[in-house]
Amino acid sequence: MKNILDAPFVKEMCDTTANMYRLGWDERNGGNISYMLDKNEVAEYLDLNNVIRTIPTGFDAADLIGKIFIVTGTGKYFKNVKYDPENNLGIIRIAKDGTTAELLWGYADGGKFTSELPAHLMSHMARLSVDPENRVVMHSHPTNTLAMNYVHELDEKKFTHTLWEMCTECIVVFPDGIGVLPWMLCGTNEIGEATAKKMAEFRLVIWGMHGIYGAGKTIDETFGLIETVEKAAQIYMLTAHLPRVNTIKDEDMKTLAEAFGVEYRKDFLNLD
Ligand code: 13P
Ligand code: ZN
Repeated sequence: MKNILDAPFVKEMCDTTANMYRLGWDERNGGNISYMLDKNEVAEYLDLNNVIRTIPTGFDAADLIGKIFIVTGTGKYFKNVKYDPENNLGIIRIAKDGTTAELLWGYADGGKFTSELPAHLMSHMARLSVDPENRVVMHSHPTNTLAMNYVHELDEKKFTHTLWEMCTECIVVFPDGIGVLPWMLCGTNEIGEATAKKMAEFRLVIWGMHGIYGAGKTIDETFGLIETVEKAAQIYMLTAHLPRVNTIKDEDMKTLAEAFGVEYRKDFLNLD
């Protein structure tokens, strides 16, 4: 059996949480990541028959029975993950009842998965129904994205349109736009259900005055989505209070989307 601390997926979680902390997106225990793993790959590092303990999830994830995820721990600081992966991360498998997580590794100090597990697993189910290759769900509190929530209307079309205008690459990176939820109580099944509903349509969802969710096939893709939104939000926050002299026009964005061959939300542009 190989050493789990050498597993590429553990290293990826360590590197990504450290990077997100470095960028100032994940203060204290802010943010969480869940990453669906390949069973055969995990079996190279862990005995899949050895369940350390079981933890109820409080909701039904029937579509994910038998699936294995590496998930950040609740209350754990992103800045600490790389120094102590076994306390700050856990590898769980959804048990046959759909409502229990079987701990295969991690949460060594008796901890458990993120309080946002409902939003993560429900989002995995929603994304898998539209993209069978989706494997990652990431939640974060990026500074400028969050700042923008306080000064910009929380409207899907308007929020997406403003972000698309801020960097030429935006409509190409997230042509599907960005879903927006109002402020809601976090850590609940209700916010999980609302997030998953949006995730059937978008790979990015704003949690009003809280943060952002992203979903993708890989850690890189998902991180890149959030990173691009955050960059656009930064440009917005640097310029919103200044007179706008130049702008990327809707016609330009249409040209861009067509040149890159992406399916974009035409109803989020104002074209006649
Ligand atoms: P956890 O520490 O439970 O992951 O919660 C952090 C967070 O960002 C809540 O939305
Ligand atoms: Zn949060």
